[in-house]
Amino acid sequence: MLDRKINIAVLVSGGGTNLQALIDAQGSVIKSGEIKLVISNNENAYALERAKKANIKTEVVTRKIEGSQEKFEEKLLKVLKDNNIELIVLAGFMSILSENFTSKYNKRIINVHPSLIPSFCGKGFYGLKVHEAALAYGVKVTGATVHFVNEIPDGGEIIMQKAVYIEEGDTPEVLQKRVMENAEWIILPQSTQKVCENLLKE
Ligand code: GAR
Repeated sequence: MLDRKINIAVLVSGGGTNLQALIDAQGSVIKSGEIKLVISNNENAYALERAKKANIKTEVVTRKIEGSQEKFEEKLLKVLKDNNIELIVLAGFMSILSENFTSKYNKRIINVHPSLIPSFCGKGFYGLKVHEAALAYGVKVTGATVHFVNEIPDGGEIIMQKAVYIEEGDTPEVLQKRVMENAEWIILPQSTQKVCENLLKE
């Protein structure tokens, strides 16, 4: 079956520029998978608008509505199963998933993180905070990492990394934008394709 594609769900929480990069890469960089579903844990995420504009089905699942982390993950698992999802891409998804969840999708969850892991990663390092920490430390090179997700926050096997130079006068916002443009939006679609290709061989 030459044209079989892996069913992808993208999990988001915010602006969704990484989701946009994935949408834009469909059919070009991403040939072996198709985004079937976008799930947000924030009903106000602009990422949901991006999905709707691209005619991709959306679901909102929040811990607040479900009542606990356990129920939240149960609901996520049900939605993923109902939609026959084979690969989960975390693209700015600001919630840590438990081992109970990650073990059910072993090597089938990937995440983009805005630093060169193992620097500036793990619990508490997300979004702009990562760039604030890199600037405060004074590193001269940062970047982005795409990795498999396991029970250790940002601790799974690395799939791809790309370095980005820090420039004089950088603010966290300026650095965040450079890391997104020059690293995240490139390696997230490439990694997604790579993982889909390998899953098709299983
Ligand atoms: C991105 O920089 C992503 O790498 C980061 O949040 C931003 C989301 O932006 N994710 C993390 O920090 C996860 N630990 P987006 O919603 O525009 O894609």
